Amino acid sequence: MRVFSGVQPTGTIHIGNYLGAIKQWVELQEKNECVFCIVDLHALTVPYDPLKMRDLVLEKAIAYIAAGIDPEKSIIFIQSQVKEHAELAWLLNCVTPVGDLTRMTQYKEKAKKFKQNLNAGLLNYPILMAADILLYQTDMVPVGEDQKQHVELARTIARKFNQRFGETFKIPEVKVRKIGAKIMSLRNPAKKMSKSDEPESYISLFDEPEEIKKKIMSSVTDTGKTIKYNPSKKPGISNLLTIYSLLSDKSIEEIEAKFKNKGYADFKKSLAETVVNALEPFRRKRKELLSREVYVREIMSQGCRRAQVIAQTTMQDVRKKMGLI
Ligand code: AMP
Ligand code: TRP
Repeated sequence: MRVFSGVQPTGTIHIGNYLGAIKQWVELQEKNECVFCIVDLHALTVPYDPLKMRDLVLEKAIAYIAAGIDPEKSIIFIQSQVKEHAELAWLLNCVTPVGDLTRMTQYKEKAKKFKQNLNAGLLNYPILMAADILLYQTDMVPVGEDQKQHVELARTIARKFNQRFGETFKIPEVKVRKIGAKIMSLRNPAKKMSKSDEPESYISLFDEPEEIKKKIMSSVTDTGKTIKYNPSKKPGISNLLTIYSLLSDKSIEEIEAKFKNKGYADFKKSLAETVVNALEPFRRKRKELLSREVYVREIMSQGCRRAQVIAQTTMQDVRKKMGLI
C-alpha cells in the first residue's frame, strides 16, 4: 500500500505530532511504500519569517530521521521542490465548491485568529492538501484527529474529479489512532497540544530531560487523587495516562494498577522518567545529524527525485483528462 503524510515546518515537533502521526509512520514504513513530506507551502498561509524558513525545513528533515523515519525505506521530501503539488492544487480548485472549504473546522478557527489579513491560501489550504495526497495515488493517510476532516474532503474531491473526468485518482483512506490521535495541552487539558501555544503546554521531541521533568511536574491535572482513565471527568490525568501508555508500550490498565495506591506526584515523576527515556535516542540522533547537513540535504534531493517520478506520472494523466495540451 502507498502511504502519504506530512507535517508543517513551522514550530517544533512535539509529542502530539509524534504520537498522533509520526509514530504511526515509523510502524507503517516496514510493510508499505511510504512518502513523507515537509509541507512548506502550507506554512505560508500564516504570518512567517522568510529568513527562518530554510532552517525550519532542515530541522524538520532532521526530526523525521531522528524519530525513526528511515530514508532507505521511505521517501522524505520538501513539498515546494515538487512543482506538481502547486499545479494540481490549482486544477482541484476548479472542481471544489467554496462551501466545502468555508465549513472546514480548521479554516473557521484560523479565520477568527487571523481576521486582520485573511488570505485566500488559508481557505484553499485543504485543496493543496488534497493535491499532496492524490498526486501519489495514496491508499492510506496516517494523521491526528484534527486532520481527519481534510482527508475526508480529499476523498470527496477525488470522487468528484473521477466522476467528471473519468477514473483518475485512488480514493485514500484516513488512518487515525484509537488512542493518541488527540494529545491535549499540558496547561489546559481541554485544548489540543499545539506548537503555536506557549512552550510549557507541549513537550518537544528534543526537550532536555530537565525541561521535560519541569513541564510534566507542573502540568495541569484534575481535582481528586486517583490515577484513573476517564477523559470526560479526568481529562488531565487521562491525557498523561495516554502519553505514558504510548511511550512505554504498557496498557492503560497496567499503569492504573501500578499507581493504585499512589498519588499524582509519584505518577508524574514516573511519567517524566518514561518520557525522558523514550525521547533520549531521538535527542542523540538529532545531535549527530545536526553536524551532517550535507547528508540530510542529499536525502531531501533524492526524496524529491523519487517523489517527482510518481507525481509527474499522475499529472500527465490529469492534464490529459482535463483537456490540457
Ligand atoms: P501539524 O503540526 O499541524 O503540521 O501536524 C502534523 C501532524 O500531527 C498531523 O497529522 C496532525 O494531525 C498531528 N497532530 C498535531 N497536533 C496533534 C495533537 N495534539 N495530538 C495528536 N496529533 C496531532
Ligand atoms: N495539513 C496537515 C497538518 O497541518 C499537514 C499536511 C499537509 C498533510 N498535506 C498533507 C497531512 C497530506 C497528510 C497528508 O497537520
